[in-house]
Amino acid sequence: MAFYITTAISYVNGAPHLGHAYEAIATDVIARHMRQRNEDVFFLTGTDEHGEPVADAAKDQGVTPQVLADENAARFRALLPQLDVSNDFFIRTTDAEHHRRVQEVLRRVHDNGFTYKGLYEGWYCPKCADFKVENEILDGNRCPIHEIALTREQEENWFFRLSAFQGRLEQLYAEQPAFVMPLQRFNEARAFVTSGLQDVSLSRARMNWGVTVPWDPSHVFYVWFDALLNYYTALGYARPGDDLTDRYWPANFHVIGKDILKFHTVFWPAMLMAAELPTPAHVFVHGFLLGADGRKMSKSLGNVLDPFEVLDEFGTDALRFYLMRDVQFGSDGPVGMEQVTVRYEAELANEYGNLASRTLAMLQRYRDGRVPEVDTDPALAESFAGLADDVVDLIDAAEVTGALELIWQRVRRCNRYVEERAPWQLARDPERAAELDQVLASLAEGIRALSVLLCAYIPVSARRLLDALRADDTRVEAAAFAARGSGATVSALAPLFPKR
Ligand code: MSP
Repeated sequence: MAFYITTAISYVNGAPHLGHAYEAIATDVIARHMRQRNEDVFFLTGTDEHGEPVADAAKDQGVTPQVLADENAARFRALLPQLDVSNDFFIRTTDAEHHRRVQEVLRRVHDNGFTYKGLYEGWYCPKCADFKVENEILDGNRCPIHEIALTREQEENWFFRLSAFQGRLEQLYAEQPAFVMPLQRFNEARAFVTSGLQDVSLSRARMNWGVTVPWDPSHVFYVWFDALLNYYTALGYARPGDDLTDRYWPANFHVIGKDILKFHTVFWPAMLMAAELPTPAHVFVHGFLLGADGRKMSKSLGNVLDPFEVLDEFGTDALRFYLMRDVQFGSDGPVGMEQVTVRYEAELANEYGNLASRTLAMLQRYRDGRVPEVDTDPALAESFAGLADDVVDLIDAAEVTGALELIWQRVRRCNRYVEERAPWQLARDPERAAELDQVLASLAEGIRALSVLLCAYIPVSARRLLDALRADDTRVEAAAFAARGSGATVSALAPLFPKR
């Protein structure tokens, strides 16, 4: 089945940081897992290049917005392979095809009668590129996100009749209780809808860095309307000559951070309804990475975790693992170099890496590298029963941290099994050869099954281990714990997570 998943697209007014890496990695874990389930996956990410934030940053730097956008979009694009993110396309909202399709969709919204011209006056945050409604504004007319002073702005705009969708949005929320996940965010979004919707600006007259409004070329679309449509437009031109819209629309998952909830859970479905397009199945809202001290990460506080530093010191799999493991996906959580080190040493190196090395070394030493073709131990098999199904269910709800925890419980279970069965003692007693065969076959099977499930999280290391085990089936189905040892001749493996 088609499975379409997206990240938010990043502003190109600055360089990529850990928050962007986090979202891309989490989305990649889901995309990879779905491919392991033989789903027909399309994974989209990219950059949001129009609007005030970019125009202002370019002005500050004395360059044109296009120059700044080109430079930073290249940095965002270059980050993805460094994170082993397996996106199928990278959209830039400055793409000509994106412009064309945005105009086409929004013209339909206009033709359907959901726009009108009016005077807008309100409190505006230039960093969010957003007019704030009264109940969002902090004391002293400050932005709830950036905490900076909002400016009072007035201009003639095209408006989008968001208020006309009150009933249909309420219906969407009533019919699709998993439209927004997790539940807390669903409640937040629904409360926003039920509190009463006001029409919103659809265009800006004072800006020219954006997509031109086709029926009023002195205006450009307000950046959020152009940006949100990326999820739709990309499918039209990602594969030249092959329009993917029918195959993948609507999206299964939009993965976003909590600061952009309103746009994705209120504006976005309303806009799609106005254009007579189907709405997405789920919006998953993750939390924020915080500095190690629990405060917002900021250069001035000196509590920023630099993804490039982690990549240099520990490698890609370690960064991916750390972020998915340490911060419950959906919640906020502190991150820091010290915690990375602890997870790397205690879990990746000592638990998984060591389990792999020990198992392979014992197979070499006691059985010439061959996994005995005997029945595996039902006691260990029992601990794996239902694991793959549970992982599937959790990933279906984007619970990437929860699924990893279930897998890791079995990594620990296998380590306990080694201690309990002490194969090195069995090896001293020729009469216990059959028992040793069973223990080794079971451990080989355990690390194989675990590595299949770990492919989505730590693709390089899990693959290396599977290669050493001569196990090339990485489908989630293959994560079932087999009743017999594989009989494969395994090869030696350098430590997956070497001591540093
Ligand atoms: N351009 C808009 C999104 C448009 S989507 C149609 C935007 N860009 S952003 O660059 O500011 O953020 C991109 C994503 O990164 C958002 O989902 C945002 O929540 C996420 N994060 C930015 N900082 C973050 C953290 N510190 N922690 C976790 N995620 C964060 O918003």
